[in-house]
Amino acid sequence: MKDEINRKSQPLLTIKGLKTEFRVQDNKVLRAVDGIDLAINSGEIHGLVGESGCGKTVASLSVLRLISPPGYISAGEVLWNGNNLLRLKKGEIRKIRGKEIAMIFQNPQGSLNPLYTIGEQIASIIRLHKNISKREAREEALRLLQEVKIPDPESRVNDYPHQLSGGMCQRVMIAMSLSCQPKLLIADEPTAALDVTIQAQILDLLLELRGRFQMAMLLISHDMGVVARMCDRISVMYLGKIVEESDAEGLYSNPKHPYTQALLKAVPIPNPSEKAAFSLLKGDLPSSIDIPSGCRFRTRCPKVFDRCIHEPELESVDQNGTMVACWLYEKE
Ligand SMILES: Nc1ncnc2c1ncn2[C@@H]1O[C@H](COP(=O)(O)OP(=O)(O)O)[C@@H](O)[C@H]1O
Ligand SMILES: [Mg+2]
Repeated sequence: MKDEINRKSQPLLTIKGLKTEFRVQDNKVLRAVDGIDLAINSGEIHGLVGESGCGKTVASLSVLRLISPPGYISAGEVLWNGNNLLRLKKGEIRKIRGKEIAMIFQNPQGSLNPLYTIGEQIASIIRLHKNISKREAREEALRLLQEVKIPDPESRVNDYPHQLSGGMCQRVMIAMSLSCQPKLLIADEPTAALDVTIQAQILDLLLELRGRFQMAMLLISHDMGVVARMCDRISVMYLGKIVEESDAEGLYSNPKHPYTQALLKAVPIPNPSEKAAFSLLKGDLPSSIDIPSGCRFRTRCPKVFDRCIHEPELESVDQNGTMVACWLYEKE
């Protein structure tokens, strides 16, 4: 799989220098995404990890231009099929959303309309993008429910969201996202609200669908265990910036950035709550309104030294494409 990906030269999605800010009280600016670069190849699962509040969701919403005031994208490019999505007209980006790039979220129940059956909701998504009859759309909805392994789809298709468990609702969301055979699925903490067994089943389903449809994924998670299991490449985000990017094996066997090392040390805690998982780091995550100067991790870094008052760039450190933003790896 990885060799296949490496041979393709043009990434499917390329994010360059993306910055997204929010204007908050007292006219201050919160820099949620502070200049990130990221490239996703066809069929690849790319993980985006980092603790809560570091900008993962804002980054992914920015890709689809789903940021609304007081938020705004202040810089960067998002290249898709040679087009900069940030420059497209509203009508044009709408055609890409859902059809070429789909998205699923943490809270599937909240994303479904309680007043309509799941069959009606899937069928209406299909009809939004495809010119087919209601009857055909319903047939297609049934087929998609089978695809995501909902048991007894003929009867489930008439259920309302409240009649389904969280895991089943997430399957419905996945079915909807598959309806137009997107080339990229953005999955923002898709299993964070589910218990561990159901979480594993949903992750397995996503892996299987990637294999079958060659669909690339941007998988967002605060859980290193989840990304370890799923991803080909991983970007680690801290306070709005990517501090390390590596293939998954390299990241786990030889994490370079002190932040990545801290995240990985937090993994073996049984049933880690988000708080426990990050308690190894000293201090709280600084506010994105007041990002430390120099290396933004220096206020919490166990290896901080004098060089860290300057901001390190994300630089390549080996032959495998590992990139790190840390002065410990400064070249001569
Ligand atoms: N609508 C908003 N208004 C103001 N600040 C926001 C808004 N949405 C997100 N933020 C801020 O942007 C930063 C990144 O948030 P988010 O992308 O949700 O983090 P993550 O998904 O990594 O947990 C946080 O500091 C958050 O408080
Ligand atoms: Mg989030």
